[in-house]
Amino acid sequence: MASPLSLLLLLLLFFFFFFFSSVSPISSDSSDALLLLSKIKPSLQGPSPEPNLQLSTWNSSTPLCLWRGLSWSFSGDALRCNDSAVSANLSLYRDPSLQLVSIRLPATALSGHVPEELARFSSLRSLLLPSNSLTGSLPLDLFNSPSLSDLDLSSNSINGSLPPSLWNLCDRLVSLRLHHNSISGAVPDPAIPNSPCPLFQALDFGSNNLDGGFPRFLTGFQNLQELNLASNHFSGLIPGELAGMKNLQSLNLSYNNFSGALPEAFKASRFGSEAFIGNSPELCGAPLGQCGSGSGLSSGAIAGIVIGLMAGAVLLASVSIGWVQGRKRRNRGRREEEDMEMEMEMEMDEGENGAEGKLAVFQGGEHLTLEDVLNATGQVMEKTSYGTVYKAKLDGGGAIALRLLREGSCKDPSSCSPVIRQLGRARHENLVPLRAYYQGKRGEKLLIYDYLPNRSLHDLLHESRAGRPLLNWSRRHKIALGIARGLAYLHTGQETPIIHGNVKSKNVLVDEFFVPRLTEFGLDKLMVPAVADEMVSVAKADGYKAPELQKMKKCSPRTDVYAFGILLLEILMGKKPGKDARTGAMVDLPSLVKVAVLEETTMDVFDVEVLKGIRSPTEDGLVQALKLAMGCCAPVASVRPDMHEVVKQLEENRPRNRSALYSPADTRSEIGTPF
Ligand SMILES: *[C@@H]1O[C@H](CO)[C@@H](O)[C@H](O)[C@H]1NC(C)=O
Ligand SMILES: *[C@@H]1O[C@H](CO)[C@@H](O)[C@H](O)[C@H]1NC(C)=O
Ligand SMILES: *[C@@H]1O[C@H](CO)[C@@H](O)[C@H](O)[C@H]1NC(C)=O
Ligand SMILES: *[C@@H]1O[C@H](CO)[C@@H](O)[C@H](O)[C@H]1NC(C)=O
Ligand SMILES: *[C@@H]1O[C@H](CO)[C@@H](O)[C@H](O)[C@H]1NC(C)=O
Ligand SMILES: *[C@@H]1O[C@H](CO)[C@@H](O)[C@H](O)[C@H]1NC(C)=O
Repeated sequence: MASPLSLLLLLLLFFFFFFFSSVSPISSDSSDALLLLSKIKPSLQGPSPEPNLQLSTWNSSTPLCLWRGLSWSFSGDALRCNDSAVSANLSLYRDPSLQLVSIRLPATALSGHVPEELARFSSLRSLLLPSNSLTGSLPLDLFNSPSLSDLDLSSNSINGSLPPSLWNLCDRLVSLRLHHNSISGAVPDPAIPNSPCPLFQALDFGSNNLDGGFPRFLTGFQNLQELNLASNHFSGLIPGELAGMKNLQSLNLSYNNFSGALPEAFKASRFGSEAFIGNSPELCGAPLGQCGSGSGLSSGAIAGIVIGLMAGAVLLASVSIGWVQGRKRRNRGRREEEDMEMEMEMEMDEGENGAEGKLAVFQGGEHLTLEDVLNATGQVMEKTSYGTVYKAKLDGGGAIALRLLREGSCKDPSSCSPVIRQLGRARHENLVPLRAYYQGKRGEKLLIYDYLPNRSLHDLLHESRAGRPLLNWSRRHKIALGIARGLAYLHTGQETPIIHGNVKSKNVLVDEFFVPRLTEFGLDKLMVPAVADEMVSVAKADGYKAPELQKMKKCSPRTDVYAFGILLLEILMGKKPGKDARTGAMVDLPSLVKVAVLEETTMDVFDVEVLKGIRSPTEDGLVQALKLAMGCCAPVASVRPDMHEVVKQLEENRPRNRSALYSPADTRSEIGTPF
């Protein structure tokens, strides 16, 4: 029962509601045209004393239809300027329902700066002001513009750096052209990584002063057709994924300072040498000239990892933790080890006088020098069934990861060397690359990888340490998709498939942009059978073992798919599979899901963090991901999907509301958190 007093309150509330909702916006620049007059026109006009011919048509004594370079809409429909009543209407510009759709003033002698108020036009899709004399920097707010999809500010005199808000436009951006300005600094990474910017077709940053490494995330923009970074100061390596971008028609990376060997993938790509000319003399490989003779054979001058005679000794001495206890056993086996010849067909670098060891190097690792490695100091990171992993700090900063294989590994050179060679060729954004392989005369065997300071997915999912980033569905989806892509590459990226053999959350490193990278792949073939089979029991205890996997020899792409299915469930449910550390009971994730489905409590299986911000678990691809995971865990191997099918399904069922992740507030409160 409403009392008279509360009725009065209600009426008051209504009054205020209507008052403020209808009256207050008019007090500021309520129509787009008024905002254009008050802020945009003076800013673009700049300091020039002469009124700009085009801009001067933007005035209240000229009907809106005659204002130059603009297009408008009324609630979605284009303004009908062929209608004489409209085209002559002098008060039209005050109409708040009129919306500015585009500004197109190429080569019109604009001499001011790009005004940040542009972000206040709710329907502005195109801003095309090329070949003018605009100065100053790009306003931060421009990229929060709600509808902007087509931006061309080429051939102006804009300086400063690209604002970090740049990729806030990602979900609608079609074309971004900033050619021929004086923009400097690095290209900022998107706040939320792995965003595909699905509509993005043309990026032209040519002829500026941009620097830093190749903006790797660009290779994730799968619809990109044109990419121009020419005539800047970019440096470092050019990633191979670029060659695999299906839709990329035009590429220009000329006149930068890129270096290193162009990845193999460019050999068969449609891009000729003209896309790469004018870079560091070190940039080599097809379609440019051949890389230095010996292709990767370390000889000081040629880039590569160098561990020579002394390097091996000093290096091993410095990674002495955990080494001493292995020593006795090693001495026992010394004779036979010495007799063993590696006879690898890959380029092996023998130490001076060949007394100490041999090294095979693979693509990448140009940052390492002999001296670096000589002075490296090591610390144990972890011990696994496969051996001990060390982090070796390099003197000049940076580090490498060394995996000292268990004794007896890689015993048979004729079967071992093709495996190592193949692992050394495996290059994919979601794999930790193998850079070199070292074998000492005493039989010690080291796999040398990039060291990544990242946390494992296992830690991210299961450790409640402060500063842990929020793992919402968008981020988890990104991680899952990356892992799936890495596995798909292993299974089919080369002539012979590489079986990962040890897929689990501990073997996935996740960087601060939620890009996952798989480690420990393909090592089972290097092990003596007994050690390999130890892996099976470990996989069983961890909960990732496929039912048919009794011996490591039996591992196959399908057993990887099974393990991936468990891993995907782990990602969705936030629960650890396998033996519970406290109770010792086995946690069977697929069974938990089956029970929940029968009891119609399916939504309860998802981790609460996963459901954050999700409006519809079906439309956001959550339900599909759960089904997919269950399909991967099918007890009968032949009905499991292959990894390409998994990738496809994850790509087709993406979280919908990715744009919310781009808001600057989210950047500050979450992404900035180090982990
Ligand atoms: C308004 O625009 C007309 C052209 O449409 C121009 O002739 C006139 O000078 C402008 N007035 C002002 C005050 O700029
Ligand atoms: C104006 O043009 C639109 C489409 O361009 C057309 O549909 C409409 O009939 C035209 N109106 C007049 C009055 O000519
Ligand atoms: C001119 O446009 C305004 C705003 O849309 C409208 O209210 C007014 O009726 C129009 N005048 C004529 C003569 O069409
Ligand atoms: C950009 O150019 C303006 C002059 O147009 C200058 O005042 C300003 O210092 C420059 N800013 C940078 C970051 O170079
Ligand atoms: C690439 O850019 C450079 C410098 O801007 C230009 O000279 C060259 O013609 C361009 N190459 C291609 C293939 O467009
Ligand atoms: C190019 O990069 C190399 C390192 O790869 C650096 O030593 C050199 O100074 C750079 N050159 C320019 C012009 O930036």
